[in-house]
Amino acid sequence: MAILEGIRIQNYRALKDVTLGKTFENKEPVLPRLMAVIGANGTGKSSLVDALGFLGDCLQDGVEAACDKPHRGGFERLRTQGTKGPIRFEVRYRQRSLARPISYSLGIDCDKHGRACVVYERLRQRRKGEARGQPYSFLEIKDGDGVVWSGQATKLQEGSKRIPVKMTDRQVLGISTLGTLADHPRISAFRDFLSGWYLSYFVPQLARTQPMTGADPHLNQTGENLAKYLQFVERENQSGFREMLERIAKKIPGIRTIKHVKAPDRRLLLEFQVQGYKSPFYQQDMSDGTLKMLAYLLLMEDPDPAPLIGIEEPENGLYPQLLDKLGAEFREYAKQPGGPQILITTHSQNFVDALSPEEVWILDKGADGFSRLLRTADIRGVPELYEAGLPMGSLWYSNHFGTDKP
Ligand SMILES: Nc1ncnc2c1ncn2[C@@H]1O[C@H](COP(=O)(O)OP(=O)(O)OP(=O)(O)O)[C@@H](O)[C@H]1O
Ligand SMILES: [Mg+2]
Repeated sequence: MAILEGIRIQNYRALKDVTLGKTFENKEPVLPRLMAVIGANGTGKSSLVDALGFLGDCLQDGVEAACDKPHRGGFERLRTQGTKGPIRFEVRYRQRSLARPISYSLGIDCDKHGRACVVYERLRQRRKGEARGQPYSFLEIKDGDGVVWSGQATKLQEGSKRIPVKMTDRQVLGISTLGTLADHPRISAFRDFLSGWYLSYFVPQLARTQPMTGADPHLNQTGENLAKYLQFVERENQSGFREMLERIAKKIPGIRTIKHVKAPDRRLLLEFQVQGYKSPFYQQDMSDGTLKMLAYLLLMEDPDPAPLIGIEEPENGLYPQLLDKLGAEFREYAKQPGGPQILITTHSQNFVDALSPEEVWILDKGADGFSRLLRTADIRGVPELYEAGLPMGSLWYSNHFGTDKP
């Protein structure tokens, strides 16, 4: 499974310059399978998750459309106030654990008409057998003009083919176009990785909708297609589906069993047997929190998960005592072979209690108004106190996550 080893974000709202994990330029450890970002209101947690979604939107819809999404409000509202430079990203990833890491740089600025456009793109990789030294570019495009090296080779290797590139549409990412060509397997793989990221904004009310027919292979961002996703899983593997519902029922408090029944019009209904009641309930009757828990547990049953899953404040609407269990479930899921990487923002002490110092980052804001990101394992005293048996949530709430670097 592909892994995000690190990401640097510059000039994206209050994220003037923050790095999560390893890049070619720093020596930080690579990102773990499960990560949580905590921090006071307004420090940039949602901006961080949105920055990940922004990359996918740039790839899919072009950079101007990505900036103009209603919650972003255009390039100038997105770029860090008072800054002149482009919005920049540096994404370091590895296609498989033994593959050489690849780093993607992207710069987005506005043209003289104020339209967002791509000003810079580069893909780099180290040559085979070289753990150190300068990585070599196999794609570099500046202001619409550049070069790409075909196949797996770098520019110094025999057989590499240097092809000039001219981007006529400056809204479109070069990796979006070149990634569709068979000549560029590394670009295709990276493009698939980036476009596969999944950000969850679960809306219980939407999950209650019952479409007439249809089957979707994955749960979508809001959970609106919950019923269709269930239909897909049931169609693919009927006995597996029954077992999955049994597993999930055990994890939701107050629920004895979950069964599926076919309505006369062929819709798939979920029948919940609730403690203390004789007659069953259906998903329309279930509480927001129960549906949310169900959605997360179903997400974790996806046999072909997204490479990276981002979830904002999963604790909202869930009983605190459930959260350390949910945290442990996310960890187990992320650890499975082929499991996704999971990034969560949270204000919940219980959730953080399930994590280790290597899995938690704290965001705060300096006097300059810019966000700073710090891994809790790098805060003096925290690893020792954790090793001594103090859970992370308690350390956080008892104010051990000061922001002084060691
Ligand atoms: N263009 C910009 N330049 C600088 N700062 C910005 C820009 N746009 C928004 N901000 C700031 O970014 C912050 C937004 O933070 P964000 O919503 O990511 O916080 P959060 O950590 O998710 O908070 P909460 O816990 O309340 O959800 C706000 O403080 C806002 O003032
Ligand atoms: Mg937020």
